[in-house]
Amino acid sequence: MKNKSIKISRNDNCPCGSGKKFKNCCRNEKQGIAIRDEYKNRYNIILKTSEQIEGIQKSGELLMSIMDGVEKMIKPGLKTDEINIFVHDQIINAGAIPATLNYRGYPKSVCVSINEVICHGIPGDRLLADGDIVNVDITPILNGYYADASKTFFVGTPGPDAKKIVAVAAESLKRGIEVVAPGTTLGDIGHAIQTYAEGQGCSVVREFVGHGVGIDFHEQPQVLHFGNKGKGIALMPGMVFTIEPMINLGKKGLHVLEDQWTAVTNDGSLSAQFEQTILVTQEGYESLTPYEL
Ligand code: MF3
Ligand code: CO
Ligand code: CO
Repeated sequence: MKNKSIKISRNDNCPCGSGKKFKNCCRNEKQGIAIRDEYKNRYNIILKTSEQIEGIQKSGELLMSIMDGVEKMIKPGLKTDEINIFVHDQIINAGAIPATLNYRGYPKSVCVSINEVICHGIPGDRLLADGDIVNVDITPILNGYYADASKTFFVGTPGPDAKKIVAVAAESLKRGIEVVAPGTTLGDIGHAIQTYAEGQGCSVVREFVGHGVGIDFHEQPQVLHFGNKGKGIALMPGMVFTIEPMINLGKKGLHVLEDQWTAVTNDGSLSAQFEQTILVTQEGYESLTPYEL
């Protein structure tokens, strides 16, 4: 999952805007303190220490082991609340805390979003049906560290629309991740996702975005899944954020149901999402919730 391509060379100007060469600035460990202060003061972005990164990584390992367990459960007839019970118990048994439970009034330990539900579906009595697609979004807090990831699964045998939107959503995340490196910008990530997804005739949800994560659930920066090349904050080693594009088969418009959480497509078209927690490294990136895309 590591991007070996170094997009900024040692003698280039540092992307932080200091006017110094990259090798004498953010690439130099000794300068790390100054950059940490700069990103905190200017953007309220927490550049993580190696200790914090290790903590988030452990939380991500727990998350992905639970995700693998969920994947094995998925089948027609499964009640979405059974996914909640499983995820809740696994998180608690590991000595962790489900971040979503009671988060701004959210009542469950996982989000389960079926078909035209874009995100924040609340598990309950609904049963998975053959041909459905279902996104499961999990966020444990382990030893105080948050990791955040989701995957969209097929239930039984997918039809052509289900196959298409899941493939496009997975590739959208992959393309967003692959541009991550010191010297590229948040706008580059959004641009890569938007041009690919729209090029496939799909649309990108605007209302929900990726986010800094690790010490808190939703930190700065916001990571838009659309945008312009070269715009936005320069990525810096130690940044940890999610990329989590929500891609609709039809139009991008959405509304939130009476429950105040469940976001659905206005046109009833399918929506799919994949999310990982990504660390910016000196070489490029590393996923702290790695899985194949
Ligand atoms: N895990 C979601 C995200 O990717 C947030 C869910 S918040 C909740 O940011 F309250 F809906 F659970
Ligand atoms: Co997230
Ligand atoms: Co999430």
